[in-house]
Amino acid sequence: MKNKILEIKENSQKEIKQIENLEQLNLFRIKYTGKSGLLTEVMRGMRDVPKEERPMLGSLVNEVRTFIESEIENLETKFNEIELNKKLANEKIDITAPSKNSETGTFHPIQRTFNKLIDACVEMGFEVVTGPEVELDKYNFEMLNVPKDHPARDMQDTFYITEDIVLRTHTSPVQARVMEKRQPPIKIISPGRTYRVDNDATHSPVFHQIEGLVVDKNISLLDLKMMLTKLLKILFGENTKVRFRPSYFPFTEPSVEVDVSCPNCNGEGCNLCKKTGWMELMGAGIVNPKVLENCGIDPKEYSGFAFGQGIDRLTMVMDKIPDMRMMFENDIRFLKQVK
Ligand code: DAH
Repeated sequence: MKNKILEIKENSQKEIKQIENLEQLNLFRIKYTGKSGLLTEVMRGMRDVPKEERPMLGSLVNEVRTFIESEIENLETKFNEIELNKKLANEKIDITAPSKNSETGTFHPIQRTFNKLIDACVEMGFEVVTGPEVELDKYNFEMLNVPKDHPARDMQDTFYITEDIVLRTHTSPVQARVMEKRQPPIKIISPGRTYRVDNDATHSPVFHQIEGLVVDKNISLLDLKMMLTKLLKILFGENTKVRFRPSYFPFTEPSVEVDVSCPNCNGEGCNLCKKTGWMELMGAGIVNPKVLENCGIDPKEYSGFAFGQGIDRLTMVMDKIPDMRMMFENDIRFLKQVK
């Protein structure tokens, strides 16, 4: 019996040296220490051993078992470590590898134009205010000195929802909404979507404007000219020429149309400016005293200037887009090109 135990020990020592991985180690464990393993078998055989030999043999078996178990444990730790290191090496992230998906989103060209204008105006101290796109006729027209049935309504071909509700034809109703609520000093811009019954290569039924309004004591046409000249030079460069032509809007008196030297050809004349060297940018003027009065501001004490700039045509010129409708089709190929 004793010999058998020592043989088990010897064999196990030899075998354990051959073990190369966890799987083999497991088989080894079952073979020696498992339920029907060699050591268990020996313990079962104790029954047939004379009583006086049992303690000695028992402790010998235990010794061998402890020895084998500690060998198993050591090997297990070693193999687990090797396995882990292998895994770590395989799963290593190469942060210098080129990324598989390098597509990034960008702003729509119209939004980029908006952002440029808004940034420049905010820098000059303007506050950004927005208003509803489905608007009351009252704010879109009446308070801006365009009564119902007035011929000036023909200037803006309107989508009527009901007789008193329209899709706003310009961003100017925000002027009326702000002045109705606040007293001067007022210095706001209002960017947003606008709607008119129009659809061809240079007109879309949905388009965009940015409105500006300054109301305070002693505001004159000179303030308007200075401010707009500064704004347009920020946008188009210091050498840009700015031109003011007399015009008519019911909500301003006097009214002007503002042009800049064509940013595409620097005023030389090209296809984009139809060989004129100039680009029409916006309407502007001194707020009609009637409009101030309609909104509850005393025209004897205060005066103001306002401007309304179209964003779409400006974007077409800056990004050389030949057809306005392209900007609203949301064709991803187009959006990628004008990035
Ligand atoms: N609302 C005008 C339009 O859409 C543009 C405009 C002209 C706005 C003069 C103004 C202004 O604020 O003072 O045609």
